[in-house]
Amino acid sequence: MKVEQIERKRIRQFKIRGLKKEDLLPLHDLLQKYDYCEKTVFGKLGADDIDDILVNYLPAYLEIHLKENSPIDRLVKIFILARHLDDDEIKGLLEDVHIEKLMDVGVLDRDEMGYFSNVAIFPCKWAFLATDHMFTTAFHPNSVYPLGMDSYVLARALIDGKFQNTLDMCCGCGVHGILAARQSRKVTGIDKNPRAVNFARFNALLNQLENVEFRSGDIYEPVEDKDFDWIIANPPFVPSPEKTLYFRHGSESGEGISKSVIAGIPDHLRDYGYAQIVTSMVMRDGEDYLKKISGWLGDEHFHILALGTRFGPIHRYILNHVTTDVRSPEYYRDIVTWVKSYRKGGIISIGDGLLNFKRTHEKESISEFRNFRMPKPGQDIEIKQILDYMDIYDDNEEFDKLLELAFEISGDVQFCWQGKKPSGEVSYGALFNPGAVFEGVLNGENERVIFDILFEGTRSGKEIKAKFEDRLKDSSASKDETFQRAFLNVLKEGIIRSI
Ligand SMILES: C[S@@+](CC[C@H](N)C(=O)[O-])C[C@H]1O[C@@H](n2cnc3c(N)ncnc32)[C@H](O)[C@@H]1O
Repeated sequence: MKVEQIERKRIRQFKIRGLKKEDLLPLHDLLQKYDYCEKTVFGKLGADDIDDILVNYLPAYLEIHLKENSPIDRLVKIFILARHLDDDEIKGLLEDVHIEKLMDVGVLDRDEMGYFSNVAIFPCKWAFLATDHMFTTAFHPNSVYPLGMDSYVLARALIDGKFQNTLDMCCGCGVHGILAARQSRKVTGIDKNPRAVNFARFNALLNQLENVEFRSGDIYEPVEDKDFDWIIANPPFVPSPEKTLYFRHGSESGEGISKSVIAGIPDHLRDYGYAQIVTSMVMRDGEDYLKKISGWLGDEHFHILALGTRFGPIHRYILNHVTTDVRSPEYYRDIVTWVKSYRKGGIISIGDGLLNFKRTHEKESISEFRNFRMPKPGQDIEIKQILDYMDIYDDNEEFDKLLELAFEISGDVQFCWQGKKPSGEVSYGALFNPGAVFEGVLNGENERVIFDILFEGTRSGKEIKAKFEDRLKDSSASKDETFQRAFLNVLKEGIIRSI
């Protein structure tokens, strides 16, 4: 079969009707048996993370990395690298009946070179996600997004908590809805691309889940009169003069879909609910980013925690996202079109971002921008705690509960010191682990006093407060209020933590 014929087969839909989760259990168990997780699969390809797996490196993956051809090597070949397996190779993995079932559903196929998979399967935390192949000749408008760094970052930042109704907006293969299912009574996923919805339904069955439902439609349209206590979204966010890929192109501003998703939050998120959106952070000359985002939410009260990283000039971003083949005559024209479009929109730099919201009912809204580092596989970002600390700023009762706990300097602080500058002034510092997701800063004298109190070791919240008040003997400010603010600041910065 020619490559083009295989590609045509690959854009077919799964046969979902009548398919039961039990039918996919052998595939699920096979992946689990050979430890098909992020660490193993990325590690097999010499990669630390998904963005280290590079399509052009294929010959080395096949000839060097997977030379041993062990069962996990074969799984990586067929499900990540989109290669063929011969009869013996596949039969050493699955029984004949299960191979037939997977062929019938549309996962496996065969030609004169052997068996191949119509889909890629990515491990993400505990789940397995079928998508279109990343090792493919070309994407088409309805391609189902192969998990990218954006998908993994959101997966690693998912709020740690229990929820009633969760919404996975722009769900693609359903990765975040599926991961959220273990924490939610019910999950609904929405995608405009019916092919993606088909993949997501397949993935719910593959992961043996029953509390997840996927619908196709435009943004909130399929759930117009419903509300949720957790909204998760990875909308297309690339600023682009092209409209060719559903999963990528997010209008010339890059914000077309993200803005609609954020503007719909007040109508669909319950009080004290959380929303998380992964997006490009598009920076424009003279624009206040946080003000823009809070403007999209209207008059309702929300805390906003905007996390940004890897900001860079637009040419790097454009070169990473223009889809035209570099050897084609259109390439020259397209690069110029993209740059003109970015300039027209006033875009000066673009980074990777994660926007987190908590609906605060009537509490004072707090908006904050922080830099973060991309979390590694297995590393989770603690978003809920930071949003919850914001919530306690004007809530004495909640703050008193917090003080019942014991605290210490955070494990992310590798080294801290307290010394004197040549001028005689006392100086404080903290050096964070190179792998820490956040690097906090000790802003303000009161925050430094708390750090100083904890310098010697663990203390109860009440003890810290008493010592702090002792130190502030001469202050005329309200000690309670001053302490509350400073204490929540050091917690929010990740400089100290509760144990
Ligand atoms: C970047 S992909 C993310 C897929 C998946 N959530 C993930 O993280 O891997 C964006 C998804 O948004 C979908 N999409 C684009 N426009 C949409 C719209 N107007 N309403 C709903 N979904 C949309 C695309 O089909 C695509 O699946």
